Amino acid sequence: MTDKILLTGGAGYIGSHTYLALVEAGYEVVILDSFANAHADVPDRLARISGAPVICITGDVRDSALLDRIFSNHRITAVVHFAALKSVAESVQMPLEYLENNLGGLLVLLAAMDRAGCRKLVFSSSATVYGIPDETPTPETAPRRSMNPYGKSKIMSEEVLEELDATNADWAIGILRYFNPAGAHSSALLGENPRDLPNNLMPFVAKVALGELPRIQVFGNDYNTPDGTGVRDYIHVEDLARGHVLSLDALISKGQSHLVNLGTGQGQSVLEIIAAYSDACGRDLPFEIVARRPGDVPIYCARTERAKDILGFSTEKSLADMCRSSWAWAMQGGSN
Ligand code: NAD
Ligand code: WQD
Repeated sequence: MTDKILLTGGAGYIGSHTYLALVEAGYEVVILDSFANAHADVPDRLARISGAPVICITGDVRDSALLDRIFSNHRITAVVHFAALKSVAESVQMPLEYLENNLGGLLVLLAAMDRAGCRKLVFSSSATVYGIPDETPTPETAPRRSMNPYGKSKIMSEEVLEELDATNADWAIGILRYFNPAGAHSSALLGENPRDLPNNLMPFVAKVALGELPRIQVFGNDYNTPDGTGVRDYIHVEDLARGHVLSLDALISKGQSHLVNLGTGQGQSVLEIIAAYSDACGRDLPFEIVARRPGDVPIYCARTERAKDILGFSTEKSLADMCRSSWAWAMQGGSN
C-alpha cells in the first residue's frame, strides 16, 4: 500500500518543492496550509507540474479538531511539518505570535498525531539554532544558542521532539537543520515568492536583476571572512526537498530517528552570490556596501557527513543552478 504523508505548510516555498519530490518518489500527499504565507495558485501549479490532482486542505495546524478529521479521513503514515512563521525581524516585533505559531503549532500537531497513532515526523529546523557557532563548518553536536524569538522557537521545538523521542520508543523523528535554501523549481512554475520587500539575499538579488529595485545593499564588508562579506551555505531547494524524501524513507523503513544538517558544506560570500547571479542574468548587478545588519552571523556552513552517513544525502546542484533557476522563475513573474 502506498504511504500517505501529511505535509503541513506544503503550499510554501520548501513545502511545495517537497510535495513534488514526494509524489515523484511514489508517496501520496495531503497538504494542510493556512495560506498565511503562500499564494493561492500553488496547488494548481503543483497539479500542473505533477499531472495529477492535489489534495490541499486550507486550515491551521493549531486547529486540533481539523487535525483529528484529517487523521480519521486519511490513513497518514507520517507527517512533514513545515508550517511556521519564518521572518527573524518580524519575530523580534511579535515574539508571542512566533512562539504560539511555531512551538504551539508543533504541540497541537504532536498531540493529534499521538491520538491517531501516527508517530513519525520530519521537522523543519534551521541553522539558526547554532547562533554564532564556534566552529565552521558546523557539526550537529555544536551547542544551540538562540539569537531571536524565531531561533528560540526552533530550539524549543527541537527540545520537545528530543524529549518525546527519548521517552517513547513509538516515535521516530527526523530533525532537519536547513542552511540557506535558494533557487526554484526546474519548471520555473514554483519558487520563493515573498509578498513584501524581501529580507533574504537571493530574492532581493532577483528583484534587482529584474530592475524592480535599484541596487543590492551588501550588509558589511568587514567580517572575518575571505572578502569581508557574510558567508552562507546555500542549498538548492530541490536538493533540500530530496533530503526530506530520504528522511522519511529512514523513518518509515527503519524507524530511525535522526538530527542532521542539510547543506552543501561550501560557503559563499555575498559578493560571490552577486557575481554568480550576474552570470545567470547576463549583466553586472549594481550593489553598494552598507553597514552590518544587526544580529547577522558572519559565517554559516554545514558539516555534511552525518546527512551522508545516515540518509545517504548529498547535494547535486551548484550555485550556478540556484541562480539560473531563480532567474528563470523571476523572469516569468515569480518574484512578484
Ligand atoms: P514559507 O513561509 O514559504 O512556508 C511555510 C508555510 O506554512 C506557508 O505556506 C504558510 O502559509 C504555512 N503556515 C504558516 N503557519 C501555519 C499554520 N499555523 N498552519 C498552517 N499553515 C501555516 O516558508 P519556507 O521557507 O518554505 O519554510 C518552511 C519551514 O522551513 C519553516 O518551518 C521554516 O521555519 C523552515 N526553515 C526555512 C528556512 C528558509 O530560509 N526558507 C531556513 C531554515 C528553516
Ligand atoms: C544572507 C547573507 C546577509 C540581504 C536568514 C534567517 C535564518 C534562515 C535563513 C530560517 C547575510 C547578506 C542579505 C541583503 C545582504 N531562515 N545580505 N543584503 O541571514 O543567513 O538567514 O534566512 O530559518 O534563520 O536568519 O539569510 O539571505 O538574509 O542573508 O548583504 O539585502 O546576505 O548579511 O550575510 P540569513 P539572508
